[in-house]
This record gives sequence, structure tokens and C-alpha cells, in this order.
Amino acid sequence: MHHFTYRDNELFVENVAVQELVATYGTPLYIYSKATFQRHFTAFDSAFGALPHLTCYSVKACSNMHILRFLGKMGAGMDIVSGGELFRALRAGIQPAKIVYSGVGKTRTEILQALEAGILMFNVESMGELEKISEVANQTGHTANVALRINPDVDPHTHPYISTGLKENKFGLDMEQSYAAYMRAMELPAITPMGIDCHIGSQLTSLSPFREAVEKILLFREKLCSAGLCIDYIDLGGGLGIPYDTEEPPHPQEFGKLLTDMLSGLGITLILEPGRVIAGNAGILVTKVQYTKKTATKEFVIVDAAMNDLIRPSLYQSHHHIAEVSPRGRAKHTVDVVGPICESGDFLARDRLMPAVEPRELLAVFSAGAYGFTMSSQYNSRPRAAEVLVRGDTAHLIRRRETYEDLIAPEETRS
Ligand code: LLP
Repeated sequence: MHHFTYRDNELFVENVAVQELVATYGTPLYIYSKATFQRHFTAFDSAFGALPHLTCYSVKACSNMHILRFLGKMGAGMDIVSGGELFRALRAGIQPAKIVYSGVGKTRTEILQALEAGILMFNVESMGELEKISEVANQTGHTANVALRINPDVDPHTHPYISTGLKENKFGLDMEQSYAAYMRAMELPAITPMGIDCHIGSQLTSLSPFREAVEKILLFREKLCSAGLCIDYIDLGGGLGIPYDTEEPPHPQEFGKLLTDMLSGLGITLILEPGRVIAGNAGILVTKVQYTKKTATKEFVIVDAAMNDLIRPSLYQSHHHIAEVSPRGRAKHTVDVVGPICESGDFLARDRLMPAVEPRELLAVFSAGAYGFTMSSQYNSRPRAAEVLVRGDTAHLIRRRETYEDLIAPEETRS
């Protein structure tokens, strides 16, 4: 459910016309609906209401400060993967005791920053990292709460680039290594083993991989408990998918029921790290048609947004619904929607049935709220797009469009 709807053949975000926003802020433009974000967060969080739990929004999905701030006010914790995300979360007023830190390559500096902040837990991905956290914590008079990230070797049936819980992936430790790591964690100074962590992948459209992972985790937890280490926190990561095209992912309610059935009464506090399911369908990317072009074999619609603005179609061959901002009921034909970047891989859609749009028309690229702006770049020296947040009748610019000066400012050094 989202708040991007047509009224009299005009696309609205909540009560604001997209045309109006474009007149003020230009294109390409990311537009988010606050009500949609809030609705998604509440739907997700309340699905786990029967369990002691903490929903840690995955900052990487959409990390604008304004968005982090209002999610924090709704009670969200944050899942971070870098010092930069820690900085954002703290600046957004998130309580450190609601922050969990994942990622395979945490540096000494990042570890120290997280210890100084007093985060809830490090999700540790290797033996080397465990030793390093212990060393840094010990040297600086801190104690680190840790969870070991288990790689349960479960196939999430998603794009290979976003599968993380298979044994060939770089993430986590297999069951045997994890056991050894927990035993080591019990001996190491300045370490409190507090949780078991797992994130098997992103854009999952069925619950069975989650069920399989939780079964493995529960068995593993029993094994640890028999060895004298009883763990109360289970972090299941993120991963619940959204409908981009014809997918029919389970509703958070079903996910909540599955986990409630599997975990209640076990004295477990559940941590969840949803990103896409909160942000994905809460944002669109609006772009203006520049040219249309016919070749011997193809028809192209050339727009002013490109792979630097939204890389998902190029990187994961992902589908994003694209529609006119002001539909006029024209006949459809097959086109490629492409950007101005000098690569054939720069496309937003390929072989897509679309109305015969014309230059200066606006198109909306849907489901762009997660991994859209956060994965954008300045490739081809294209300033990054602006971001606008709509709330009811009002719109707020939450990130100004970058300028040419922004492109070169960090290079203005005297050597
Ligand atoms: N927790 C961890 C440890 C993660 O690595 C991720 C995502 C999440 C939580 C959030 O997962 P979600 O609920 O959003 O599925 N750029 C890709 C997605 C990469 C996901 C990386 N990790 C895309 O555009 O599809």
C-alpha cells in the first residue's frame, strides 16, 4: 500500500501533484511519501508485536537524515554497515543502544567509533574481526557486545548479487567456524557474546528460506547453550521482498506470524533489519523525456535520469515500473528507456511496452525508494538528484540538488 495515486490523470504523491514538485525542484527528482514510510514501518514492526523485538531499519536502503529522524521518532533502531552510517544514525538522534553494526570489513577506526558511541551489538563476520574488536575494546576500556554472523547455507532464491547466506558468499561464518568463534569469544577479553546474527539475502519472495535459517539457528543456539553459552538475542537481518513487477512477496504479517510461532516462549529478543520493505515503495524517481529515437531495430526513449541516479536495472537487471506522470491514453509500443550516460548498460528499462511519449514529458520510475538515491553517483560528472519528502499537502526539500561546484569542491586542494 502506498500513497502514489492518479487523480484526474495526474500523478500525486499524497496530496501534492508531481508536476508541481518538478516545476519547483526540477528533474531527475526523488520524491518520497512520508505516510508510506510510516505505514510500512508500522505494518512491519507491529507484525512482531507478540515478541520482544527491535526493528533496526537498514540505513543503506535510504539514508537521508530526515527519513532516519522520523523513523527514529517512531521507535526504530538502525542497522548500520559503516562509520558513515553510524555518523548519520547518531546525528539523526538514534539511541546508540538501538544500533547494530554488520559488515565484513569493519576497520579499527570504525570499531572504536562504535564502541565510543555505545552501540547495542557488533554483528561479527570473521574470526579476525572478533580478535580485532576484542583488542580495540580491551585497549580502550570498553566492552563489546557481539553476535556472530552465521552463514546457514540457505538459498534465498534471489539475484546472485544480493544472496548472502550461501556458503560461497563472503558473509558470516559457517556453523562449525561459528561454534569455534563463540568458544573463542567466551575466552577473549572485553567481549560479551550476546546474540546470534544471520542475514541470508535481499528481495526474498518466500518465507521458506527464513524458516530454514531460523531452524538452523535454533539448533545452533541449543548446542551453544549445552556448552554453557546461552544466547538471548537473535538478529535475523533484513531481506523481505517487495512487489516491483509480478512478484507476490509475503506480507510482513505472515513473516511476523512465522517468527512468532517459531520463537515465542523461548526467552529470545528478536532483532530485524528491514530496509527495502520499508523504503522501496515509498519513493519514486521522476525524470523528463529528452528525446525519442528510432533505429533500424529499436526505439529509444532518452530521459534525463541515468544509471548514476538509479543503478538497479543496470546492476541487477531489476524491473521498475515506469509510467507517465500525466497519462493520455495513447497506444503502447515497445521501447528501451535509457539515460544520457556513455554506456550501453545505461538503461532504466529494456523492451518495455510504453505509450508513445514525447520530449519534455515526465515519467515516474516506481519502487525507487530503496537502493535508489543511496547507490547513486556522480558518474559522467552528473550532479546527484534532489530528494523531496511529501507529507500530506506539503513538500520539503530534504536534499538539495548537487551543483557543478559540488562536483569539484573536494578536489580543490593545494598540493
Ligand atoms: N541487514 C544486512 C546485514 C544487509 O546486508 C542488508 C542488505 C539488510 C539488512 C537489508 O536488507 P533488505 O531488507 O533491504 O533486503 N542494492 C541491492 C540490495 C543490497 C542489499 C544489501 N544488504 C538492491 O538494490 O537490490
